[in-house]
Amino acid sequence: MDHVINSLLPLTRAEAGVPIIYGDTLFGVLDLQSETVDRFTEAEIELFVSLANQIAIAMRNAALFEDAGKSRERAEQSDRVKSAFLASMSHELRTPLNAIINFSKFLKKEIPGRINDEQRDLIGNIADSGQHLLNLINDVLDMSKIESGALKLYVEQDIDLRNILATAINYTQPILADKPVSLYQDLPETLPLMHGDRKRLLQVFLNIISNACKFTESGSVRISAYAEQDHMTIAIADTGPGIAPEDADAVFTAFKQTDSGLRQGGGTGLGMPICKKLVEAHAGQLWFESESGKGSTFFVKLPLAESTQAEPKAPEKVTQYA
Ligand SMILES: Nc1ncnc2c1ncn2[C@@H]1O[C@H](COP(=O)(O)OP(=O)(O)O)[C@@H](O)[C@H]1O
Ligand SMILES: [Mg+2]
Repeated sequence: MDHVINSLLPLTRAEAGVPIIYGDTLFGVLDLQSETVDRFTEAEIELFVSLANQIAIAMRNAALFEDAGKSRERAEQSDRVKSAFLASMSHELRTPLNAIINFSKFLKKEIPGRINDEQRDLIGNIADSGQHLLNLINDVLDMSKIESGALKLYVEQDIDLRNILATAINYTQPILADKPVSLYQDLPETLPLMHGDRKRLLQVFLNIISNACKFTESGSVRISAYAEQDHMTIAIADTGPGIAPEDADAVFTAFKQTDSGLRQGGGTGLGMPICKKLVEAHAGQLWFESESGKGSTFFVKLPLAESTQAEPKAPEKVTQYA
């Protein structure tokens, strides 16, 4: 048996072993054998060495690629765990928080019994802090949904954006109550209809309009809209502090606020990045133009549903709130 195997093997009279090595890692040995004595010349050995080096580089690249694939898989897995965790926690967090907010409002309205002024203020603080925390939780959950690609749009057909703008204005108008700021609506009698997620579009305009109202101390906030061939543009212009060119990136960066944003307090710096993603999910664009000290205008450009036209509605061209 030994004899058979030996007769099949070459009779090695010369052997060259070149390590396949990269840095401190030995991947293997390039082994060449010959039946001829002194078969390998200096030049050939040099060639084998450089061949072994090339193999080492290729093997190292392959190992790096495999590592990167594994870490990507691990990251994706942990992202999935994170969004599943957040989705289930969101309910657990929001339910007791809503109870805190609603019970404190109930107490403040003196439904269970009379309270004094100091108690009313303190209970008001509980409701406001609760609301702030609820907004923060909602924003963090939205952001994590967007980042993990789990954000879903519930698209409805033929939405009239004027209704959404009217609701957003109704909600944000109280922010201007004690300020010498006028709010103008400059909307056409009809706007073409669009397809989109009503709740998410409202969220976009609520944040942009409430930012404009929040940051503007005097002057005006003007909401205008116009339709062009296949899209419409909504502009929210204010005479607030404006955004300096060096702060432009911060506006759309999660958790970043400009100095005026920080001074104002109450925000999270998550609103605008979320809005941008929501508008982009509608195949639209969100951007702003601003001059420091002179105000800002935020633009939302949204694609239109094909050849649909809203029913004319009673014009409400300019509404002014002192
Ligand atoms: N109309 C505006 N005028 C001036 N600064 C603005 C305006 N809108 C947004 N910003 C700046 O962009 C930052 C990010 O906005 P946003 O994400 O909505 O955060 P916030 O939670 O502060 O409202 C704000 O903190 C503010 O610094
Ligand atoms: Mg905001």
